[in-house]
Amino acid sequence: MNTCSFFLLLCPLLFSQTEATLFGCGLLQCQFSSSGDVVYLAKMFFNKLLWADYNSTLGKYTGYTEKAIEVVDGFNKNKEFLKREQNNLELCKTHVQLVLDVLSKSAVEPSVTLRSADLSGSRHPSMLVCSAYNFYPKQIRLSWLRNGKEVTSDVMSTEELPSGNWLYQIHSHLELTHTSGDTIACQVEHASLLKPKLYEWESISESERNKFAVGAAALLLGLVVLGGGLIYNKRCTNGRQLVPTSAG
Ligand SMILES: *[C@@H]1O[C@H](CO)[C@@H](O)[C@H](O)[C@H]1NC(C)=O
Repeated sequence: MNTCSFFLLLCPLLFSQTEATLFGCGLLQCQFSSSGDVVYLAKMFFNKLLWADYNSTLGKYTGYTEKAIEVVDGFNKNKEFLKREQNNLELCKTHVQLVLDVLSKSAVEPSVTLRSADLSGSRHPSMLVCSAYNFYPKQIRLSWLRNGKEVTSDVMSTEELPSGNWLYQIHSHLELTHTSGDTIACQVEHASLLKPKLYEWESISESERNKFAVGAAALLLGLVVLGGGLIYNKRCTNGRQLVPTSAG
């Protein structure tokens, strides 16, 4: 049986968390066989180790570390993610060039963090900082909601700054005044999102796990963007496949 694979290697995808920096790589693969079968694979590597993958034959993600298993469990329940991978399989089937074209135009969802910055040295935070990392395209809108209403004063935003790899970041600051009992949220509007996404103060600041999941999700979505370090490689085998054998 003849098999032919198209690889899309996106590497490195630099991915910053507040605590640590991870080097993530994504490998997208359309595998064709002469029998007409098509398998679509998406592999995620963190610091060179296979962390999780999606196999279209299985129709789900598989995690290879304890953390990954926990996170992909969420991915497997996410209809949007599964549908996206299903679409990628369809694209593999249709035409590889089309895969490349479409994937290169995909939007990448920002990874958002919300933290407090204490400028005055007082016990209460005097400023909240909402940061969106690693999104594409550049157009984005961050706004602040207090009890569901947009705050227009005491807000300061940076420009969209390039992060490398065609991705952008932006930071917005909200000066806090008499906030007790108020619900503060950072609202993100971006092409990668079907509707504005809210990040509420408190809920996000306490959950490391969620932050990780958000970051991993961003990386996963990042897989579908052609990064600066794109390597495109086509490999075909004729007749029998080479199988490594151990000596002795
Ligand atoms: C994908 O899943 C199928 C079915 O379990 C398996 O036969 C195949 O080896 C898997 N492919 C990879 C590259 O893991």
